[in-house]
Amino acid sequence: MQFALKSQEIPQSQFDRVLNGNRKNGLQELDAPIHRWWRFILAFPPHLVSQYLDEFGCEGPGSTVLDPFSGTGTTLVEAKRRGCFAIGLEALDFCFLASKVKTTWEISLPQLERESKRLFADIAEEFSQYGFFSENSLFQDYQNYQNPIVCPYKLSLDQQKLLGKGYISDRPLQKLLTIQKYVLSLPPSPVADFFKMALGSMAVIASNVGFGPEIYCKKMKKDEDVWALFSNQIKEMLADLQMIQKKRFGPSSVFHQDARTMKSLGNLKIDAVITSPPYPNEKNYGRITRIENIITNLIQNKEDLRRLKKGLIRSNSQNMYKGDDDHRYVEKFSSIQRIANEIEERRLSLGKTSGWEKLYPLVAKNYFGGLYRHLLDLKPLLKRGGRCAYVVGDQMSFLMVHIKTGEILAELASDIGYKIVKIDLWRERWASASKTPIREEVVVFSKK
Ligand SMILES: C[S@@+](CC[C@H](N)C(=O)[O-])C[C@H]1O[C@@H](n2cnc3c(N)ncnc32)[C@H](O)[C@@H]1O
Repeated sequence: MQFALKSQEIPQSQFDRVLNGNRKNGLQELDAPIHRWWRFILAFPPHLVSQYLDEFGCEGPGSTVLDPFSGTGTTLVEAKRRGCFAIGLEALDFCFLASKVKTTWEISLPQLERESKRLFADIAEEFSQYGFFSENSLFQDYQNYQNPIVCPYKLSLDQQKLLGKGYISDRPLQKLLTIQKYVLSLPPSPVADFFKMALGSMAVIASNVGFGPEIYCKKMKKDEDVWALFSNQIKEMLADLQMIQKKRFGPSSVFHQDARTMKSLGNLKIDAVITSPPYPNEKNYGRITRIENIITNLIQNKEDLRRLKKGLIRSNSQNMYKGDDDHRYVEKFSSIQRIANEIEERRLSLGKTSGWEKLYPLVAKNYFGGLYRHLLDLKPLLKRGGRCAYVVGDQMSFLMVHIKTGEILAELASDIGYKIVKIDLWRERWASASKTPIREEVVVFSKK
């Protein structure tokens, strides 16, 4: 059976137009090659990064650009594309994998194509046993829809509990787990990571999950064409690599690392940081990327989840642990203490008594304490005059107390000895609960 691996080549002009030309905050950016391999709701758009790379004069091998909260790797892809040295840190397992794969452009295409063909053939064979190819499928040789055997694959009980009921229907799940079996049997290598990320990146599409912007369960779907999702994803990734390999691009390194402790990176010399740390709100990164982490087996049980969450900035009440003491770093800041007190007073006046709500004041303090630790550790890694752009949003998630995240971040950076250059307004979002606009800003500062 032939698989059309060398799919339609995206013309270079389209690639350049998508990545370079469009300054609007639109969907075109999200469709951009490489960026489109995997995105999540909390990613920022490539053109925003591009704007600050221009402003900071980052171009070519002389520039080293860091994203300490790399997420889906947006900054890294943009910096690398310009020939800069792109360095990323990321604590969350699947985000780390995605950042790494999305910046591994030197990989051998013939090897990937060979491996894809082999994987597709093996997976198709097993899909046919379970009747996963429908009557109308193009895969004539692999149709067995009338006489299927039962697919035996299930998530472990631990993983079922972690995922929660209804997030994915049985049949799409079985298809994903069939692909998983072959992908995870590859020996560890960049090629194996390539397929692992492709598998994880389709998991949300195959599931019943929606983001509004919080994660929620949509209507249970009966089935999903997981084969088409996976094979198209691989084709797109190969086509993007084929195109990008014809171009000049910079090197990159991605570390699975907590950005609050960066001493081990002591010999780096960074020219620019463009990043977006978590915001202080109830968005739970461990939950938002749960399906990807589970389908790729990066999280197998509660202990894995706990380890993963402990490496994150304490930005929400479900991510707090006994012994957390980042708050000690910001005791002297009256602005932060005032916010914590206000949240507590609001809680008492509203008669809110849940364990989560009781944690809100401490979350706010630990959140800014974590950012303070990060900024302290960053300073020796930055070159003198090195510039930073931190994208952060004001928040009202903790009982509607207004947290001016950008303003406070600037206060912390200034205390550590950075020079605050400006705070740009990136966009305002409408907060329906408070009926007020909420600012999302870019705090720009430099090392003196
Ligand atoms: C707002 S997202 C970044 C999104 C990114 N700008 C993009 O375009 O995809 C914040 C990221 O920081 C990561 N993160 C949170 N705490 C971290 C920590 N202590 N160290 C490293 N990464 C962390 C989260 O997992 C998440 O991927």
